[in-house]
Amino acid sequence: MENNKRGSWASSFGFIMSAVGSAVGLGNIWGFPFKMGKSGGFTFLLIYILISATVGITMMVSELAIGRKTGKNPIGAYRTLSKKYSFLGWMAVIAPFLILSFYTVLGAYCIEYMVLNISNIFTGATAVAGADSFAAMLTNPTSSLIYTLVFMALCYFINRGGVSGGIEKFNKIGMPALFIMLVIIVIRSLTLPNAVEGLKYMFVPGYSVSAGFVEKAPSFITVLATAGGQVFFSLSLAMGIMITYGSYLKKDANLVKNSIVISVCDTLVALLAGLAVLPAAISTGISQGIPLNEIQLGGPKLLYITLQDVFNSMGAIGPIFGAIFYLLVVIAATTSIISLLEVVSAYFIDRNIERGRDPKRNKVILWVCIAVAAEAAIVAIDGLGSNGIWVPFQKTFGIIGSFNDCWLDFIDTIAEGFLMPLGALIMSIIVAWVLKPKTILEEVNGNKKCFFSSFYSVCMRIFVPVVMFLVFLGQIDSFFGLGIFK
Ligand code: PHE
Repeated sequence: MENNKRGSWASSFGFIMSAVGSAVGLGNIWGFPFKMGKSGGFTFLLIYILISATVGITMMVSELAIGRKTGKNPIGAYRTLSKKYSFLGWMAVIAPFLILSFYTVLGAYCIEYMVLNISNIFTGATAVAGADSFAAMLTNPTSSLIYTLVFMALCYFINRGGVSGGIEKFNKIGMPALFIMLVIIVIRSLTLPNAVEGLKYMFVPGYSVSAGFVEKAPSFITVLATAGGQVFFSLSLAMGIMITYGSYLKKDANLVKNSIVISVCDTLVALLAGLAVLPAAISTGISQGIPLNEIQLGGPKLLYITLQDVFNSMGAIGPIFGAIFYLLVVIAATTSIISLLEVVSAYFIDRNIERGRDPKRNKVILWVCIAVAAEAAIVAIDGLGSNGIWVPFQKTFGIIGSFNDCWLDFIDTIAEGFLMPLGALIMSIIVAWVLKPKTILEEVNGNKKCFFSSFYSVCMRIFVPVVMFLVFLGQIDSFFGLGIFK
């Protein structure tokens, strides 16, 4: 039985936790809350929910269905649909491989911060400012490399355990644990002085501009592109993940219901993450007299500078909250990384099975992890550009945009800027206009005429391509600084 050789989910809860685990990651913590506040608060939230309820759910159902229908990794799956489309599968396997190069390093940085906070608990060390710890970490390639390798080893052992015995088991414990830790941090954050400023930043439309956090509100089209890109990244779409995870699903699993649950959980965690980080970051910033527009509320600086300052300012109890928080982020990163690793590994495992060989799961995962460790080493040594490792196009195109500032940005441009939006755009056009929605709906509900079938067809034909095109333009614009979107 080929399917047994590949592995499958042991329970529906386990699958949902694993998919939510993949979806919940750094994007929920340092991306969503910051973008929401900056781009219209509650209005942004509504647009985000609208896009995820239409485009997000449609794409997730499509990917899960393609995976389950073919029972294969993304390359095999698209090839089964038609030989002509295997390039889509390649895009969906190369993108995760590239994303792994920096996602593992970012996760390793969180382990470093967790260790820092744990040691602060015991030594009661006088706090080192976040900016100083961050600079020290980036400019120490040896320790970044060691932490990255340790982190890779951890992920290797999880994935080696198999789909149900490794990935599912880790997620079933890790995700509920993450949720509890998140609630603890939310309570602490919301009870700090001036926490309400954080709430207003997140929810009140236009407050980020009127209060002076950001200079001006983005245009509507920019908000759409930002929300669309965030939905895709956050739901781990167009990365082959849902195809791969779908290929381990049993035939009786309800794909529509599962997709809704996954995206609701993902948005909930993103909102909770916002409540955990923004009120705390803004409260601490205000009490330290930092001008509002200089408080870093998103991206690496939020995670490794602002929040470390938050924990430093809490006195003796601070490092305990710090350790809990960074552990939570490590779990969020781990559950995303193991999903990315599984996509790449599944290709080689399926290839072995197709050739009538043993799947050799352990060996495949070992080699995939070694290859990822090699590319991650470049990103770790580069230290987000601090150590000036040469980026391929830096000399030639040095003047254009941020895409070659450092290895992370360069690789991210290829993966998130090109492979992901173009992959999703081409896939939706092929499914909607060439293969026709019924190819997918057959797997979803036996091609029944019902509300979902019509809804699916409309979304796939119109909304997904339009949103993906916008996302593509938005990504290219931001990476190359073209100024199309203002
Ligand atoms: N969804 C994850 C996040 O929000 C990131 C991710 C993208 C993980 C693609 C896997 C694949 O951070």
